Amino acid sequence: MILKRTHYCGDLRPEHAGQRVTLCGWVWHWRDHGGVIFIDLRDRTGHCQLVFDPQVDQELHDRANDLRSEYCIAITGTVRMRPEGTVNPKMATGEVEVVADHLMIYSESETPPFPIDDHLEAGEDIRLKYRYLDMRRPSLRESLLFRSRCYQVVRNYFAQHGFVEVETPFLSKSTPEGARDFLVPSRISPGEFYALPQSPQIYKQICMIGGLDRYFQIVRCFRDEDNRADRQPEFTQIDVEMSFITPEDIYPIMEGMIQTLYRELLDVDVPVPFPRLTYADAMERFGSDRPDIRFGMELRDIGDIARESEFKVFQSVLENGGKVSGLCVPGGASFSRKEIDDLGPEAAIFGAKGLAWMKVTENGLESNIAKFFSPALQTRLIERFEACPGDLLLFVADEPKVVYASLGSLRLKIAARLKLYDPNDNRFLWVVDFPMFEKDENGLPTPCHHPFTSPNPEDLPYLESDPFRVRSLAYDMVLNGVELGGGSIRIHNRETQSRVFKVLGIDEASAQEKFGFLLDALRFGPPPHGGIAFGFDRLIMLMRHEPNIREVMAFPKNNRAQAVMENAPSAVDEAQLRELGLRVRV
Ligand code: AMO
Ligand code: AMP
Repeated sequence: MILKRTHYCGDLRPEHAGQRVTLCGWVWHWRDHGGVIFIDLRDRTGHCQLVFDPQVDQELHDRANDLRSEYCIAITGTVRMRPEGTVNPKMATGEVEVVADHLMIYSESETPPFPIDDHLEAGEDIRLKYRYLDMRRPSLRESLLFRSRCYQVVRNYFAQHGFVEVETPFLSKSTPEGARDFLVPSRISPGEFYALPQSPQIYKQICMIGGLDRYFQIVRCFRDEDNRADRQPEFTQIDVEMSFITPEDIYPIMEGMIQTLYRELLDVDVPVPFPRLTYADAMERFGSDRPDIRFGMELRDIGDIARESEFKVFQSVLENGGKVSGLCVPGGASFSRKEIDDLGPEAAIFGAKGLAWMKVTENGLESNIAKFFSPALQTRLIERFEACPGDLLLFVADEPKVVYASLGSLRLKIAARLKLYDPNDNRFLWVVDFPMFEKDENGLPTPCHHPFTSPNPEDLPYLESDPFRVRSLAYDMVLNGVELGGGSIRIHNRETQSRVFKVLGIDEASAQEKFGFLLDALRFGPPPHGGIAFGFDRLIMLMRHEPNIREVMAFPKNNRAQAVMENAPSAVDEAQLRELGLRVRV
């Protein structure tokens, strides 16, 4: 028998007093107060207090006495106002309680391996192994309910703006997003493999060539890369593509999506349009292509001043084509010598060979290297950083990549330590004008984004002669130092596509073999088009201020990419392998 639920536990309020209700859920907390049993009954919406009073029904009270944590039950009873002095203002249902007169026990529970409580720590693997118990904890439950509402808001938003939802295949061919592919062996074609898509990139372009005009999908992507706090091997994108557009058409659509999500889910007003920063400025000022602009402490180049100084270390770096930049830590002169010395190894993680420092005092700069800078140069340094007495200047001299990465990282670490920003602040921006190519380990051009990204037409003349100078029509949306989404205008011209492949060292034959279906399609009247993809999980993680992407996914993998509950990956039996024409070599 199933008792028909009349209300959810978390919804009971004073207005229900006097009503008979039937509730279903799990036994949460259990207390015996002078013979009267109080139980918190919990469901998806929250919890409420049940009362089993032996004065009312001795037999029912005795049955309630046998209930234990996480038993699944239903009760019928009458809602009443709690007596004076027992109201719990911290609880949404804290003004009322339900006097039970009927109890149905659907199932008993073993003692859970960890308490169903947010405050009590439990190891990650045990939480993942018993994910169904973890889901009963309020914080994960709230995350999943929040995520569910996000799907609805995003779908509505794109539907209202004329986008067509299309499902693209998972059993697919490798798509070039730069990570390793997950492969799926084919039984029907032994020795051949599908690749799980790293993104629907080529399919969505094909949809544009097919004339769908505006595409969106909330879609799973698969990338075999090492997990991090904001990365999973399978994750979800909000994927978008549009025809007959420029980046100026993409920005407001995506800003509107963010604005709608923040308004509808968090009641937060996000101002638009978002500021824009070129890639070059982002690197120069923040040392990162995903800058956190909630606080200043920007990097400044001091090459011109360093060149006039007597400091050999800086001079030799400059002579070798490197650069010298620094940042000014407000109030940092109060750091102890050890605190300053400890910053060195943090810069060294990114290859910095040293970290020079100077304290700003009323009488100029103080440091082991101040003597190499004349009073005039010291004044120029202070002016460059608009520094005040009590500040600390930090410098790195190296090739630009190392200078940016090490100072960029120090900037973030020091700002967090000094609490230079409000963690609830949301500072969105667009980073634009990315370079088309970056150098691979052999110094050869590899795509910054993917090989279908359009070069900036202004830079096309340098495509072959000076590829690293070429900017692309790619853009990223960044929030508080995290890349939320990225996209680009695509190449819709076969000749440009061939030139880009040539620069990348991809010859016609291998381009045809890898992306032939896209190249074929480009022969049949492709529209100009472009798009973007957002990390859906990442966005929810930031909206909920969660430190880890796993907290907003129902069934994430652990940090070794294992599904702990179902135990995957795992060995398969010999017959299955034979059928697929496979032999295991490890
Ligand atoms: P990109 O590779 O930049 O672009 O991915 C888009 C966004 O997806 C999120 N993301 C991830 N989230 C969780 N775990 C991961 N392993 C992971 N990898 C990426 C990030 C990122 O900004 N096809 C292009 C988009 C386009 O050009 O339209 C693409 O996939 O938030
Ligand atoms: P040295 O002359 O090697 O004793 O270094 C003097 C100071 O310069 C020390 O504080 C070093 O940490 C710093 N230093 C050395 N190399 C670099 C570099 N490439 N960038 C910034 N500071 C450096």
